[in-house]
Amino acid sequence: MTYELVIVGGGNMGAALLGGLLAGGRDAAVLAVCEASADRRAQLGEDFPAVDVRDDVAPCAGAVIAVKPPDAAAATTAAVASGARRVLSIAAGVPISTLQAAAGPGVAVVRAMPNTPALVGQGASAIAGGASAASADLEWAAAILVAVGTVERVEEAQLDAVTALSGSGPAYLFLVAEALEDAGVAAGLARPLATRLTTQLLVGSAALLVARGDAAELRRMVTSPGGTTAAGLEVLGRRGLRDAFAEAVAAAARRSQELGRS
Ligand SMILES: NC(=O)c1ccc[n+]([C@@H]2O[C@H](COP(=O)([O-])OP(=O)(O)OC[C@H]3O[C@@H](n4cnc5c(N)ncnc54)[C@H](OP(=O)(O)O)[C@@H]3O)[C@@H](O)[C@H]2O)c1
Repeated sequence: MTYELVIVGGGNMGAALLGGLLAGGRDAAVLAVCEASADRRAQLGEDFPAVDVRDDVAPCAGAVIAVKPPDAAAATTAAVASGARRVLSIAAGVPISTLQAAAGPGVAVVRAMPNTPALVGQGASAIAGGASAASADLEWAAAILVAVGTVERVEEAQLDAVTALSGSGPAYLFLVAEALEDAGVAAGLARPLATRLTTQLLVGSAALLVARGDAAELRRMVTSPGGTTAAGLEVLGRRGLRDAFAEAVAAAARRSQELGRS
């Protein structure tokens, strides 16, 4: 039996992808998972009873490499040895050149940078193809990742910036959430109430942004001259919030470059 797709590494991301693919209507019979940890295999077997979960890479046409970065090259070689002619790696920071060397010639390699909201089907991924990847290969990769969110196509050189923005970005927003919760408590709210209000604030604002699509315009819409929001924004402007985010993303992009080189 040759599987359409094997997911190599059934950890957080591998399981999220598998769940998304099944929820999106992929037939469990065309999918398999290769997972090194016996405990994790047992859990995957419970969560996905119709999927072949094993400790080796089953014969396959394509593979997703969802192991930790140091294991990505070996996992790629194993997938190709089992027949994969297309490889999609989500291992952070592992360059296409490394993956291609591990895959050998004639195998299409696509590298992706997803982010943590993929765990709940709301990820933002960007993909880049190597020289061996034709547009059909990029479409193949996008069709996999769209199971857990949106997919953008970029050049590989842009993946450091993608990592710094949407890859690390959830942590920036979680920090914003923590800070707002603390600020709500300092302003007199009970912690559970501040937490609930902050969470729905982020969900609702994101939904409005999706619906209207222009953050600056929405900000102006909720800011009456001389009102409460204007008073709050004045402090954020004076304390340099935009500069702080600009420096944070630039620092994360530099770190991504450094990690990629090492
Ligand atoms: N989590 C995120 O939000 C996120 C975002 C962007 C990119 N990524 C990338 O996604 C990849 C997976 O992340 P994760 O959070 O899902 O990691 P994880 O939960 O640690 O999952 C990796 C799994 O793969 C197994 N494994 C390791 N080597 C293997 C091999 N050769 N064959 C089969 N299975 C193997 C590991 O088993 P052992 O534990 O026994 O080694 C582990 O269960 C990473 O490269 C990460 O950089 C993750």
